[in-house]
Amino acid sequence: MVNKEVGGLAEMVRGRVVKRHEPAPGHVELWIHSPVLAKAIPGQFVHVATGGMLRRPISFSRLDHSAGTAAILFQIVGDGTRWLASVQEGVELDLMGPLGRGFAMPDPRHPWCLVGGGVGIPPLLAAATAWTPFLNEPPTVVLGARESALLLLEEEFRALGAAVEVTTDDGSQGQRGTVVGPLAHWLAKHPTGQVYACGPTPMLGAVARASQGQSNVWLALEQRMGCGVGACLACVVLANGQNGPVYRRVCTDGPVFAAEELIFE
Ligand SMILES: Cc1cc2nc3c(=O)[nH]c(=O)nc-3n(C[C@H](O)[C@H](O)[C@H](O)COP(=O)(O)OP(=O)(O)OC[C@H]3O[C@@H](n4cnc5c(N)ncnc54)[C@H](O)[C@@H]3O)c2cc1C
Ligand code: FES
Repeated sequence: MVNKEVGGLAEMVRGRVVKRHEPAPGHVELWIHSPVLAKAIPGQFVHVATGGMLRRPISFSRLDHSAGTAAILFQIVGDGTRWLASVQEGVELDLMGPLGRGFAMPDPRHPWCLVGGGVGIPPLLAAATAWTPFLNEPPTVVLGARESALLLLEEEFRALGAAVEVTTDDGSQGQRGTVVGPLAHWLAKHPTGQVYACGPTPMLGAVARASQGQSNVWLALEQRMGCGVGACLACVVLANGQNGPVYRRVCTDGPVFAAEELIFE
Protein backbone atom coordinates (compact mmCIF):
# COMPACT_ATOMS: atom_id res chain seq x y z
CA MET A 1 0.00 0.00 0.00
CA VAL A 2 1.38 3.44 -0.92
CA ASN A 3 0.42 6.66 0.82
CA LYS A 4 -1.43 8.88 -1.66
CA GLU A 5 -2.39 11.58 0.83
CA VAL A 6 -0.75 14.68 -0.67
CA GLY A 7 -1.35 18.23 0.47
CA GLY A 8 -1.45 21.36 -1.66
CA LEU A 9 1.62 22.83 -3.33
CA ALA A 10 4.37 23.97 -0.96
CA GLU A 11 4.66 27.70 -0.62
CA MET A 12 7.26 30.09 0.78
CA VAL A 13 5.44 31.89 3.55
CA ARG A 14 6.20 34.25 6.39
CA GLY A 15 4.40 33.64 9.63
CA ARG A 16 4.43 35.57 12.87
CA VAL A 17 4.87 33.72 16.16
CA VAL A 18 1.75 34.51 18.21
CA LYS A 19 2.39 32.25 21.21
CA ARG A 20 5.38 30.49 22.75
CA HIS A 21 5.29 27.78 25.40
CA GLU A 22 7.79 25.36 26.98
CA PRO A 23 5.86 22.10 27.57
CA ALA A 24 8.83 20.12 28.96
CA PRO A 25 12.51 20.75 29.75
CA GLY A 26 14.37 21.42 26.48
CA HIS A 27 11.17 21.54 24.42
CA VAL A 28 9.42 24.57 22.87
CA GLU A 29 6.07 24.95 21.10
CA LEU A 30 5.49 27.93 18.80
CA TRP A 31 2.06 28.96 17.45
CA ILE A 32 2.50 30.64 14.05
CA HIS A 33 -0.10 32.79 12.31
CA SER A 34 -0.23 31.50 8.73
CA PRO A 35 -3.54 30.65 7.02
CA VAL A 36 -1.53 28.70 4.39
CA LEU A 37 0.14 26.40 6.92
CA ALA A 38 -3.07 26.09 8.98
CA LYS A 39 -4.56 24.18 6.01
CA ALA A 40 -1.87 21.45 6.20
CA ILE A 41 -2.76 17.76 6.50
CA PRO A 42 -1.65 16.20 9.82
CA GLY A 43 1.69 14.42 9.25
CA GLN A 44 2.95 17.05 6.82
CA PHE A 45 5.83 19.28 7.89
CA VAL A 46 7.23 22.78 7.51
CA HIS A 47 10.83 23.59 6.56
CA VAL A 48 11.89 26.44 8.85
CA ALA A 49 14.76 28.85 8.15
CA THR A 50 16.94 28.96 11.27
CA GLY A 51 19.07 32.09 11.16
CA GLY A 52 21.40 31.46 8.20
CA MET A 53 21.68 27.68 8.63
CA LEU A 54 19.99 25.07 6.45
CA ARG A 55 16.25 24.88 6.99
CA ARG A 56 15.06 22.38 9.61
CA PRO A 57 11.96 20.16 9.12
CA ILE A 58 9.35 20.16 11.92
CA SER A 59 5.88 18.54 11.95
CA PHE A 60 2.71 20.39 12.87
CA SER A 61 1.46 19.77 16.41
CA ARG A 62 -1.75 21.81 15.99
CA LEU A 63 -3.66 23.11 12.97
CA ASP A 64 -6.45 25.61 13.56
CA HIS A 65 -8.17 26.57 10.29
CA SER A 66 -10.51 29.11 11.84
CA ALA A 67 -7.75 30.98 13.71
CA GLY A 68 -5.32 30.59 10.78
CA THR A 69 -2.61 29.22 13.06
CA ALA A 70 -0.28 26.22 12.92
CA ALA A 71 1.94 25.14 15.82
CA ILE A 72 5.27 23.30 15.90
CA LEU A 73 6.68 21.55 18.97
CA PHE A 74 10.36 20.64 18.96
CA GLN A 75 13.18 19.44 21.16
CA ILE A 76 16.39 21.47 21.34
CA VAL A 77 19.06 19.09 20.00
CA GLY A 78 21.51 21.32 18.07
CA ASP A 79 22.17 24.75 16.58
CA GLY A 80 19.03 24.94 14.41
CA THR A 81 16.54 24.05 17.12
CA ARG A 82 18.48 26.21 19.64
CA TRP A 83 18.06 29.20 17.31
CA LEU A 84 14.36 28.40 16.88
CA ALA A 85 13.90 28.08 20.63
CA SER A 86 15.24 31.62 21.07
CA VAL A 87 12.42 33.04 18.92
CA GLN A 88 9.92 35.07 20.94
CA GLU A 89 6.31 36.13 20.31
CA GLY A 90 6.01 38.75 17.56
CA VAL A 91 8.95 37.48 15.48
CA GLU A 92 8.27 36.61 11.83
CA LEU A 93 9.61 33.26 10.59
CA ASP A 94 10.68 32.32 7.05
CA LEU A 95 8.86 29.07 6.27
CA MET A 96 8.38 26.64 3.40
CA GLY A 97 5.37 24.38 3.46
CA PRO A 98 3.23 22.51 4.00
CA LEU A 99 5.52 19.74 2.68
CA GLY A 100 5.27 15.97 2.17
CA ARG A 101 2.48 13.43 2.28
CA GLY A 102 0.47 13.48 5.48
CA PHE A 103 -1.69 10.82 7.14
CA ALA A 104 -4.85 9.59 5.40
CA MET A 105 -7.91 9.79 7.68
CA PRO A 106 -8.87 6.44 9.27
CA ASP A 107 -11.81 4.38 8.05
CA PRO A 108 -14.62 5.20 10.55
CA ARG A 109 -15.73 1.53 10.61
CA HIS A 110 -12.56 0.39 12.40
CA PRO A 111 -10.87 1.41 15.68
CA TRP A 112 -7.73 3.52 15.53
CA CYS A 113 -4.64 3.80 17.65
CA LEU A 114 -1.99 6.53 17.74
CA VAL A 115 1.48 5.56 18.91
CA GLY A 116 4.02 8.30 19.63
CA GLY A 117 7.49 8.39 21.11
CA GLY A 118 9.26 11.59 22.25
CA VAL A 119 9.05 14.33 19.62
CA GLY A 120 7.09 11.92 17.43
CA ILE A 121 4.05 12.71 19.59
CA PRO A 122 3.23 16.26 18.26
CA PRO A 123 2.02 15.31 14.73
CA LEU A 124 -0.30 12.72 16.28
CA LEU A 125 -2.04 15.46 18.29
CA ALA A 126 -2.74 17.34 15.03
CA ALA A 127 -4.22 14.10 13.62
CA ALA A 128 -6.32 13.32 16.71
CA THR A 129 -7.69 16.87 16.82
CA ALA A 130 -8.60 16.88 13.12
CA TRP A 131 -10.17 13.40 13.00
CA THR A 132 -11.92 12.78 16.33
CA PRO A 133 -15.04 14.86 15.45
CA PHE A 134 -15.56 12.79 12.28
CA LEU A 135 -15.00 9.27 13.65
CA ASN A 136 -17.29 7.02 15.67
CA GLU A 137 -14.89 6.67 18.58
CA PRO A 138 -11.96 8.63 19.97
CA PRO A 139 -8.58 6.91 19.55
CA THR A 140 -6.52 4.80 21.84
CA VAL A 141 -3.25 6.70 22.28
CA VAL A 142 0.01 5.12 23.43
CA LEU A 143 2.63 7.69 24.43
CA GLY A 144 6.23 6.89 25.23
CA ALA A 145 9.01 8.97 26.79
CA ARG A 146 12.36 8.41 28.44
CA GLU A 147 11.00 9.76 31.73
CA SER A 148 7.84 11.38 33.08
CA ALA A 149 9.13 14.98 32.80
CA LEU A 150 9.65 14.53 29.03
CA LEU A 151 6.18 13.16 28.28
CA LEU A 152 4.45 15.49 25.80
CA LEU A 153 0.81 16.48 25.29
CA GLU A 154 -0.83 13.80 27.45
CA GLU A 155 -3.53 16.18 28.75
CA GLU A 156 -4.35 17.41 25.24
CA PHE A 157 -5.10 13.84 24.09
CA ARG A 158 -7.19 13.16 27.22
CA ALA A 159 -9.19 16.37 26.54
CA LEU A 160 -10.20 14.87 23.19
CA GLY A 161 -11.63 11.84 24.99
CA ALA A 162 -8.79 9.50 23.97
CA ALA A 163 -7.94 6.43 26.06
CA VAL A 164 -4.31 7.23 26.86
CA GLU A 165 -1.69 4.67 27.89
CA VAL A 166 1.75 5.88 28.94
CA THR A 167 5.10 4.10 28.93
CA THR A 168 8.41 5.43 30.22
CA ASP A 169 11.85 3.86 29.88
CA ASP A 170 12.54 4.34 33.60
CA GLY A 171 9.03 3.53 34.90
CA SER A 172 8.59 7.05 36.36
CA GLN A 173 5.09 7.22 34.82
CA GLY A 174 2.76 4.55 33.41
CA GLN A 175 4.13 1.18 32.36
CA ARG A 176 7.91 0.71 32.41
CA GLY A 177 9.20 -0.12 28.92
CA THR A 178 8.36 0.96 25.39
CA VAL A 179 5.15 1.70 23.48
CA VAL A 180 5.36 -1.71 21.80
CA GLY A 181 3.89 -3.62 24.79
CA PRO A 182 0.56 -1.70 24.92
CA LEU A 183 0.43 -1.60 21.10
CA ALA A 184 0.79 -5.41 20.79
CA HIS A 185 -1.97 -5.82 23.39
CA TRP A 186 -4.27 -3.42 21.46
CA LEU A 187 -3.56 -5.15 18.13
CA ALA A 188 -4.43 -8.55 19.61
CA LYS A 189 -7.83 -7.16 20.65
CA HIS A 190 -8.43 -5.19 17.42
CA PRO A 191 -7.29 -7.26 14.41
CA THR A 192 -8.81 -4.74 11.94
CA GLY A 193 -7.40 -1.75 13.84
CA GLN A 194 -5.62 1.14 12.16
CA VAL A 195 -2.31 2.31 13.58
CA TYR A 196 -0.58 5.69 13.12
CA ALA A 197 2.89 5.98 14.62
CA CYS A 198 5.67 8.56 14.81
CA GLY A 199 8.89 8.50 16.79
CA PRO A 200 12.55 7.49 16.61
CA THR A 201 13.44 5.03 13.83
CA PRO A 202 14.14 2.07 16.18
CA MET A 203 10.67 2.57 17.73
CA LEU A 204 9.06 2.64 14.28
CA GLY A 205 10.91 -0.55 13.32
CA ALA A 206 9.55 -2.21 16.47
CA VAL A 207 6.02 -0.97 15.66
CA ALA A 208 6.34 -2.42 12.14
CA ARG A 209 7.46 -5.80 13.52
CA ALA A 210 4.70 -5.87 16.18
CA SER A 211 2.05 -5.16 13.55
CA GLN A 212 3.31 -7.49 10.83
CA GLY A 213 0.38 -8.86 8.80
CA GLN A 214 -1.83 -5.82 9.55
CA SER A 215 -2.44 -3.72 6.45
CA ASN A 216 -3.41 -0.39 8.00
CA VAL A 217 -0.25 0.66 9.80
CA TRP A 218 1.19 4.06 8.94
CA LEU A 219 4.57 5.38 10.06
CA ALA A 220 5.77 9.01 9.95
CA LEU A 221 9.57 9.17 9.69
CA GLU A 222 11.67 12.01 11.12
CA GLN A 223 14.76 11.41 8.98
CA ARG A 224 17.60 13.93 8.64
CA MET A 225 16.90 16.20 5.65
CA GLY A 226 18.57 18.64 3.31
CA CYS A 227 16.46 20.44 0.70
CA GLY A 228 13.05 19.12 1.85
CA VAL A 229 11.67 19.13 -1.71
CA GLY A 230 13.06 16.00 -3.38
CA ALA A 231 16.25 17.35 -4.99
CA CYS A 232 19.24 16.37 -2.81
CA LEU A 233 18.51 12.72 -1.79
CA ALA A 234 19.78 13.39 1.76
CA CYS A 235 16.66 11.82 3.24
CA VAL A 236 16.33 8.51 1.37
CA VAL A 237 15.22 5.30 3.09
CA LEU A 238 15.12 1.72 1.83
CA ALA A 239 11.71 0.45 0.74
CA ASN A 240 10.17 -2.55 -0.99
CA GLY A 241 9.83 -1.91 -4.73
CA GLN A 242 8.15 -4.13 -7.35
CA ASN A 243 11.51 -5.64 -8.38
CA GLY A 244 13.38 -5.49 -5.07
CA PRO A 245 14.57 -2.80 -2.65
CA VAL A 246 14.37 0.83 -3.81
CA TYR A 247 15.19 4.18 -2.23
CA ARG A 248 12.31 6.48 -1.35
CA ARG A 249 12.62 10.16 -0.39
CA VAL A 250 11.15 10.91 3.02
CA CYS A 251 10.54 14.58 2.12
CA THR A 252 8.36 13.98 -0.95
CA ASP A 253 7.34 10.28 -0.93
CA GLY A 254 6.74 10.52 2.85
CA PRO A 255 7.20 11.36 5.66
CA VAL A 256 4.19 9.02 6.11
CA PHE A 257 4.68 5.50 4.69
CA ALA A 258 2.77 2.23 5.01
CA ALA A 259 4.73 0.05 7.46
CA GLU A 260 4.79 -2.84 4.98
CA GLU A 261 6.52 -0.59 2.43
CA LEU A 262 9.60 0.18 4.54
CA ILE A 263 12.70 -1.96 5.11
CA PHE A 264 14.20 -1.56 8.61
CA GLU A 265 17.81 -2.72 8.90
C1 LIG B 1 9.47 15.29 8.62
C2 LIG B 1 10.16 15.61 9.92
C3 LIG B 1 9.43 16.08 10.97
C4 LIG B 1 10.07 16.39 12.18
N1 LIG B 1 9.29 16.84 13.19
C5 LIG B 1 9.88 17.15 14.36
C6 LIG B 1 9.08 17.62 15.43
O1 LIG B 1 7.84 17.75 15.33
N2 LIG B 1 9.71 17.94 16.60
C7 LIG B 1 11.07 17.79 16.74
O2 LIG B 1 11.60 18.07 17.82
N3 LIG B 1 11.84 17.33 15.74
C8 LIG B 1 11.28 17.01 14.56
N4 LIG B 1 12.06 16.57 13.53
C9 LIG B 1 13.52 16.45 13.75
C10 LIG B 1 14.16 17.83 13.56
O3 LIG B 1 14.10 18.18 12.20
C11 LIG B 1 15.64 17.78 14.00
O4 LIG B 1 15.72 17.54 15.39
C12 LIG B 1 16.32 19.10 13.69
O5 LIG B 1 16.45 19.27 12.29
C13 LIG B 1 17.70 19.15 14.33
O6 LIG B 1 18.33 20.35 13.96
P1 LIG B 1 19.46 21.01 14.85
O7 LIG B 1 20.17 21.98 14.02
O8 LIG B 1 18.89 21.49 16.14
O9 LIG B 1 20.37 19.79 15.23
P2 LIG B 1 21.65 19.26 14.44
O10 LIG B 1 22.82 20.07 14.86
O11 LIG B 1 21.33 19.17 12.98
O12 LIG B 1 21.74 17.83 15.07
C14 LIG B 1 21.91 17.66 16.49
C15 LIG B 1 21.86 16.19 16.82
O13 LIG B 1 20.57 15.64 16.48
C16 LIG B 1 20.71 14.62 15.50
N5 LIG B 1 19.61 14.78 14.54
C17 LIG B 1 19.37 15.83 13.75
N6 LIG B 1 18.25 15.62 13.00
C18 LIG B 1 17.80 14.40 13.34
C19 LIG B 1 16.70 13.59 12.92
N7 LIG B 1 15.83 14.01 12.00
N8 LIG B 1 16.56 12.38 13.47
C20 LIG B 1 17.42 11.95 14.42
N9 LIG B 1 18.48 12.65 14.86
C21 LIG B 1 18.68 13.86 14.32
C22 LIG B 1 22.07 14.84 14.86
O14 LIG B 1 22.61 13.63 14.35
C23 LIG B 1 22.87 15.36 16.01
O15 LIG B 1 23.31 14.31 16.84
C24 LIG B 1 11.47 16.23 12.31
C25 LIG B 1 12.21 15.76 11.25
C26 LIG B 1 11.56 15.47 10.05
C27 LIG B 1 12.35 14.99 8.90
S1 FES C 1 15.69 16.31 1.77
FE1 FES C 1 16.45 16.63 -0.22
S2 FES C 1 15.58 14.94 -1.31
FE2 FES C 1 14.65 14.82 0.64
